[in-house]
Amino acid sequence: MRSRYLVKELLQKVSEILSEASIERASREAQLLLMDFFDKDELWLITNQQTTLEVPQKFFKLVQRRAEHEPLEYITNHVSFYSEEFYIDKGALIPRPETELLIDEVKKYFPDQNANISFAEVGVGSGIISIILAQHYINATFIAVDISNAALEVARKNIEKFALSDRIELRLGSLLEPVSEKIDYLVSNPPYIEDGLELDTNLSYEPQNALFGGRVGDELIQALLDEVLSRGINLFTCEMGYDQKGKIQKYLENKQYSSLEFYKDYSDFDRGFTLKVKS
Ligand SMILES: C[S@@+](CC[C@H](N)C(=O)[O-])C[C@H]1O[C@@H](n2cnc3c(N)ncnc32)[C@H](O)[C@@H]1O
Repeated sequence: MRSRYLVKELLQKVSEILSEASIERASREAQLLLMDFFDKDELWLITNQQTTLEVPQKFFKLVQRRAEHEPLEYITNHVSFYSEEFYIDKGALIPRPETELLIDEVKKYFPDQNANISFAEVGVGSGIISIILAQHYINATFIAVDISNAALEVARKNIEKFALSDRIELRLGSLLEPVSEKIDYLVSNPPYIEDGLELDTNLSYEPQNALFGGRVGDELIQALLDEVLSRGINLFTCEMGYDQKGKIQKYLENKQYSSLEFYKDYSDFDRGFTLKVKS
């Protein structure tokens, strides 16, 4: 492979490689890879089409990873969520746009931004939920749990990036096992896909324990509902699979709580709920 290219030529070449590998939006992704690798912005790209670049082999290795359908976010190590930029790597799930709706739900149920409220998050992953909530609830404290050390490392990087280490404490463990403190509000985007379901190639790059939630899929959600009710946690907002609403309603049928409301995602699928225990 040559090492000197005009920007225009390089974009063309990368775009061809990606398009042959059936990557959708190949030319846009070529631009994104180039901008990220050479640390350039959109304006530079538009105004430097005839500029010659010295292109190391390392760049083509990244292009090859994308051609093998590794998600762009893992290659560039960054991802946007709720208008903020986060660090990401293979240790944690790539945040999904619909998880922004979980944040909006919490804001709807708990309007007081200044309250001294204690949150817990189960399955913190990259840290996006706790971080965005900590920015909004300026006096809140967070205990954020994950079963994966690799995920906690990603969360730690992001928490440090946003200077929130004094209000978000990370703990390794399953569900709320490592939390004995009184919690006011539990949030979670747990794994909720049924074990063994065949997924797209790009999902195979993501941590499997971030996706699969058990034989049926909603086992972890049920375990969290039990925790919320037995510990008297007043509010619980949780993301779920589009087909899990009925089972969650049924699971709560004979239990004591004040309200259960479901919310939908951008495609109008059921995507999560908020359980309020006390009125
Ligand atoms: C769907 S990801 C969510 C990550 C992040 N909160 C987000 O919304 O992008 C689920 C996370 O739950 C973690 N997890 C899986 N089983 C768990 C368990 N039993 N207890 C705590 N965390 C768990 C996974 O490691 C993963 O980081």
